[in-house]
Amino acid sequence: MIVLLLVIVLITIIVIKMTQKPKPRKLLKTDWEPDTVYLYQFKRPDFGPNLSPYCIKIESYLRANNIRHEIVFAVMERSSKGLIPFIELNGQEYADSEFILYEIQKTFNVKDVEDPERAGALRGLMRTFDTEVFFITYTFLSQLTKFHQVVGSSLPIPSFLFPLFVKFLKHRLGNRIKGSSVGSFSEAEKLQVLERNLTAAENVLGNRRYFGGDIFSVADAAIYGQIAASYLFPVPVPTSTFIREKCPNLERYIKDVTNTLFSDFVTVD
Ligand SMILES: *[C@@H]1O[C@H](CO)[C@@H](O)[C@H](O)[C@H]1NC(C)=O
Repeated sequence: MIVLLLVIVLITIIVIKMTQKPKPRKLLKTDWEPDTVYLYQFKRPDFGPNLSPYCIKIESYLRANNIRHEIVFAVMERSSKGLIPFIELNGQEYADSEFILYEIQKTFNVKDVEDPERAGALRGLMRTFDTEVFFITYTFLSQLTKFHQVVGSSLPIPSFLFPLFVKFLKHRLGNRIKGSSVGSFSEAEKLQVLERNLTAAENVLGNRRYFGGDIFSVADAAIYGQIAASYLFPVPVPTSTFIREKCPNLERYIKDVTNTLFSDFVTVD
């Protein structure tokens, strides 16, 4: 009886926490240093920088541009928009990776690609990866048991509640995917779009070191985040399989960027 009651209370708390409408709130870091980025992100899995492509996006950009930062692994903390990652910088909170990188670029005067034609092409490619490629990849990742285990291990969920948690997570991700731009696509159509988008990136990269040439641009952060999250995941999904089989430039790029920026805890050969 008591156990049952406890279970109900715990589930209720977790569901409320995860579905809560975000509200304005005070800074989490009260004794902040000027010009230091406080990055709130999910706990690191053991196979890569993060399970979330958006967390990898922000962290890779900070590392590549030598920007002073501190990482806070969030458990229940969410931005005032209800999401992770978010940052606090000079006494302000910024949420959504798009605004975060814009703010960092501005504050620290980071150079990006200057040629307008190239910059425009990269902008389009980056949006494709942050939207279509993300939702398509997560359609496949969220079908894997390993995916739920990794997400579950970053949260304080007792093992007996795990099956319930998986149901909840599947339902939540399913709704997000359905509401996205690829929501009405069949699985075959998703695969088609995915392969076209990856091939486009493969060709735009060519034999350059980065999408931004010598510069690890905002577009690099976005695209690297999306492809590295699935490439480094220990179970193959169509995104990583297609990269391994058909995109030698992208594969070389993932290895180079990972080994250059994240070798303190993961290397790929
Ligand atoms: C990605 O695929 C979608 C759907 O086919 C397409 O609209 C978009 O232009 C593609 N993006 C790139 C950069 O090729």
